[in-house]
This record gives sequence, C-alpha cells and structure tokens, in this order.
Amino acid sequence: MGPGRAGRFITFEGIDGAGKSTHLDALAQRLRADGTTVHCTREPGGTPLAERLRERVLSDPMDALTEALLVFAARRDHVVTLIEPALARGETVVCDRFTDATFAYQGGGRGFDAAVLAQLEAWVHGALQPDLTLWLDLPAEEAARRRAAARAADRFEREDLAFFERVRAGYAARQAAAPQRIVRIESDRPREQVWAQIEATLEARGW
Ligand code: TYD
Repeated sequence: MGPGRAGRFITFEGIDGAGKSTHLDALAQRLRADGTTVHCTREPGGTPLAERLRERVLSDPMDALTEALLVFAARRDHVVTLIEPALARGETVVCDRFTDATFAYQGGGRGFDAAVLAQLEAWVHGALQPDLTLWLDLPAEEAARRRAAARAADRFEREDLAFFERVRAGYAARQAAAPQRIVRIESDRPREQVWAQIEATLEARGW
C-alpha cells in the first residue's frame, strides 16, 4: 500500500447467477498486485455470528421483516468487528453484497417498505457506504440459466423469474439514486468482456 492511501470499501452486487464470485477474486488479485492488503468477505456473513445468521436466512421460512432484521443484524456484527477496523487500518475490504442487496431483495423482491430499510441502514452503518459498488447486471432469464448449470438452489434461488426481475429493478433504482458510487457492469457477455469493464472502472478512478 502506498503511503497515506486510505482503505477502500468495494462491494459487488447483482442477482444470483450474475458471476460475482469470479470477478471478486480477480479484483482482489488485481488490488493485491500493488501491495494493497485486501480482505475478501461476504454478506450475509463474514464473521462467525453473521455466518450462523446466514445459514438461517438462506434456509428457514420467515416473513420479510424478520428477513430484513436478520440481514441487518448480521451486517451490524460484520461492520463493527471486521469492515470498520480493517478500513481504519488503511486496508481494503471487498465484499460480496452489502446493503444494496437488502434494498433489491427485501425491498424490490419481497416488496418490503424501503423507508423502514433506510432507517435500519442508518442505525446499522450510519455514514459508512462503499467507495465503489460494481453492479453486475443481466436479465433474470440469463441468470437463471447460469444458476441451473452451476449449483443447488437456496431459499432465494428457488424464487421465480418475476422475483428476480423485481430484484433487478431494485438494483436499478439504487443505481439511479447513487450513480457515482454504483457502476453498472453489463454482465450478459463473455467473462473477459465483463472483466474489461471492471478494469476500466478502476482505471477511471486511478486505482
Ligand atoms: P449469494 O451472495 O448469491 O451467495 P452464493 O453465491 O453463495 O449463493 O447468496 C446470498 C443470498 O442472500 C442471495 O440470494 C441474496 C440474499 N440476500 C438478501 O436477500 N438480502 C441481503 O441483504 C443480502 C446481503 C443477501
């Protein structure tokens, strides 16, 4: 890490099947190449307590408010014990999903009240926001096709196409409200072309 460089908080977002994990690993490698200390983590999860909450959220039936409270509870533990201390040390945190996912899934997908989510967001992480969010966007149908080829479905992944179209619309609304922070990456393309857009985004910021 160069002298005086502040730690960066970078998040990946997108509907299930968008290809976040591949590009998250590549981004971490790219940042580490210049000596930056990078923590790769995920939500819900990233700490022992938050990972236990993740297991419940991904498998137990529950109503939308319970779901929102559990993801924010997991997030609070993650922010306080991992993300904020790392950023304070000048280290970089790359996170697979953060609060934009709650607005997209619980807000867009489940139709839960965005004003309540905004209140929880303010309580849980106050002024902390990602420095950059890479939103890997693609049609719900294409994402479903990729998921079917890749893995067994969790509670969210068993939702229908209409759910994922609402999640996608939720991300689009978040992006429209924070266009500087959230960069839309067209992900309905070969992997190298997706990565090229991510690299171009970093270069545009001088990272
Ligand atoms: P995901 O990040 O896609 O992990 P994996 O690649 O292992 O499947 O899965 C997490 C799921 O949790 C995903 O379906 C979206 C959901 N989720 C929410 O509903 N709200 C949230 O705030 C977060 C962070 C995730």
